[in-house]
Amino acid sequence: MYCQFAKRTLFVIFIFLVVLFTSSCKQTESNQNDIESRVNNLLSEMTLEEKIGQMSQIDPGYLSDDQMNQTVREGKYGSFLNIFGVEKINALQKIAMEESRLKIPLIIGRDVIHGYRTIFPIPLGMAATWNPQIVKKAFRISSVEASSQGIRWTFAPMIDITWDPRWGRIAEGCGEDPYLASALAKAMVEGIQGDDLTDPTAVAACAKHFVGYGFAEGGRDYNTTYISEPVLRNVVLKPFKAAKDAGALTFMSAFNDLNGVPTSGNEFTLRQILRDEWHYEGMVVSDWASVTEMISHGYCANEKEAALKAITAGVDMEMSSTSYMNHLKSLIDEGKVNLTLIDEAVKNILRLKFKLGLFENPYVNPEAEKQILAPEFLDHARTVARQSAVLLKNELNTLPLSSDISSVAIIGPLADAPRDQLGTWVFDGKAENSVTPLTAIKEVLGNAKVNYAAGMTYSRDKSKTGFAGAIAAAKKSQAILFFAGEEWILSGEGQSRGEINLPGVQEELIEELAKLGKPLVVVVMAGRPLAIGNVVEQSNALLYAFHGGSMAGPALADLIFGKESPSGKLPVTFVKGSGQIPFYYYHNNTGRPANTKSWTPIDSIPVINSQASLGYKSFHLDYGFTPLFPFGYGLSYTTFKYSNLILSSTEMASNGNLTIKVSVLNDGDIDADEIVQLYIRDRVGSITRPVKELKGFKRIHLKSRETVGVTFELPASELEFFNGKENVIESGEFDLWIGPNSDEGLHSEFSIK
Ligand code: NOJ
Repeated sequence: MYCQFAKRTLFVIFIFLVVLFTSSCKQTESNQNDIESRVNNLLSEMTLEEKIGQMSQIDPGYLSDDQMNQTVREGKYGSFLNIFGVEKINALQKIAMEESRLKIPLIIGRDVIHGYRTIFPIPLGMAATWNPQIVKKAFRISSVEASSQGIRWTFAPMIDITWDPRWGRIAEGCGEDPYLASALAKAMVEGIQGDDLTDPTAVAACAKHFVGYGFAEGGRDYNTTYISEPVLRNVVLKPFKAAKDAGALTFMSAFNDLNGVPTSGNEFTLRQILRDEWHYEGMVVSDWASVTEMISHGYCANEKEAALKAITAGVDMEMSSTSYMNHLKSLIDEGKVNLTLIDEAVKNILRLKFKLGLFENPYVNPEAEKQILAPEFLDHARTVARQSAVLLKNELNTLPLSSDISSVAIIGPLADAPRDQLGTWVFDGKAENSVTPLTAIKEVLGNAKVNYAAGMTYSRDKSKTGFAGAIAAAKKSQAILFFAGEEWILSGEGQSRGEINLPGVQEELIEELAKLGKPLVVVVMAGRPLAIGNVVEQSNALLYAFHGGSMAGPALADLIFGKESPSGKLPVTFVKGSGQIPFYYYHNNTGRPANTKSWTPIDSIPVINSQASLGYKSFHLDYGFTPLFPFGYGLSYTTFKYSNLILSSTEMASNGNLTIKVSVLNDGDIDADEIVQLYIRDRVGSITRPVKELKGFKRIHLKSRETVGVTFELPASELEFFNGKENVIESGEFDLWIGPNSDEGLHSEFSIK
């Protein structure tokens, strides 16, 4: 009887859910149809000038208010970037909605890369959390703050894979790995856009820079890129596909020349891949003047040709330069551009504005800005900063320090640098809202126990006059905390470096301090992976914190004094020096891979030589063949032990799935998070395959002495790759590892039949 009742109830619930689901699908479908018909109606009323206006975006910095108002009245621009103030934006929207002929709202764009006023760690730091959930929430918060200022479109996420830490923009991306970057790209897009695009806090995401920009030769920004099609498709495009699948409303074409064709005029990437293969229905904006920069590239003779090539390739909106405005009309009159191309572009733009509900509600509620810097936002920034720090060394458990310590010396140019800790690409965050490590540690220990002497005034400082004070502070303290790193201005757009060591005299000062024989903890706050081999040797513990944002100070204090264990893992391989670049863990094998036995270190070569083999293997005489730290690496205050790796089968069909289980034990006295990583190797392929590839990861929390079972599902589709001709899943033998980083782990194998 009871059983029958339960069955009936379940059935009723099931029917209710089916009805709910189908009706919500119908609703979305009907909204979509509705939008399409509104787009088409509006388009049919537009003059060519109005269409071209929608396709143009400028930073109106040089226009007076009156001039700006007039351009809006005339429908000359569809979008502005970098305009400020709720009042100003509302006034402009009022003109657009009431005084322009077709009453098309503006869309206001801005770079909100890792926070608006509440600044989160730089994206590379966020990637070190390996935690899509908290990253998604960080981007949601950024959108809540930014939208309260009238920004409904942001040029984020930046998801350029790079193998080059010299490139300043490595700070803005998610590192070297396509799998990790894809998971984060999805999280970022979902966070930026929110669940309901018409909600006033929804901001349109922009997947950038499409594509290959991170492969700039020599790490020099804006440089030429040559990327083979397998690398393009198997690596570089992956996060963009993930962003597209997550619903990214816009894409940005890049600055770089890709294999001889600038990406803002590249029909292969913008039209064939993005539109034809991926069926992308969103809008494409160029990067800042990247359309007219095709003239400098030597791909277009003049502005008019640049406009022709960009529109033909599929750039819908031109940012900053005005080749569309100046030339599209004559290109149409001359029959060089078909009006359907223009109409497609305008439809993409109008669709975006309809989707965001801008026609219904173009205005910003002045009350919304009250949420800026809300305590829960700052709390989240602290959590993200905490999870982004990577412990690279911890000799004899130097860390955590006891908060009962009698005194600490705080030294180094980044200890109290509120602007620097925010990192690059911060337009709206303010130094005055940063809490620095010095302030936070004083809060924990009280002023009396802190002996502060920066030793250097900024990271590039070459003067040693502050050394004596720093050494004196260290001498009277029980432990030394050195906050090393780079000023924010040394990474980011146009801010590449040839050498990636610690700038200024930081290494010398650290060496002096190490001589004192006291526990020496170095915290590095930087916009890129630095070559810190010497510092690792000199220090007893080293925490790599990137630029951690507004709450970097409290987050670091939490870790230093053991409120929580560090849990970040490197999203990028750390090299020993610039000469090792590029060095990424998923490289293909050589015919002569090196190993410890085959490497001849430069100093062990005898002085008198005849032509002889020094191993004839792939290595550098000076650096060897291993990086400083491998991808995925990061220590904890506890130790984790992996055991019982079990695969559901040793064979998988090419449309099958493997279930993989492993046990992880927290073998220490404190609770902590571990990031469990799954790698595979396709041993033989129709083209050579990487020595390892990340195919899964999970951040888990383990209580002291707890063992947790972790399960991964590996669908065969994850093993698909582009072999130069087509996408294939090839039969054969595979290695599989589960472990704490790309270099260690339990091993197993399976095959695809
Ligand atoms: C140029 C940068 O490359 C791009 O990332 C940014 O979004 C635009 N400028 C707008 O500021």
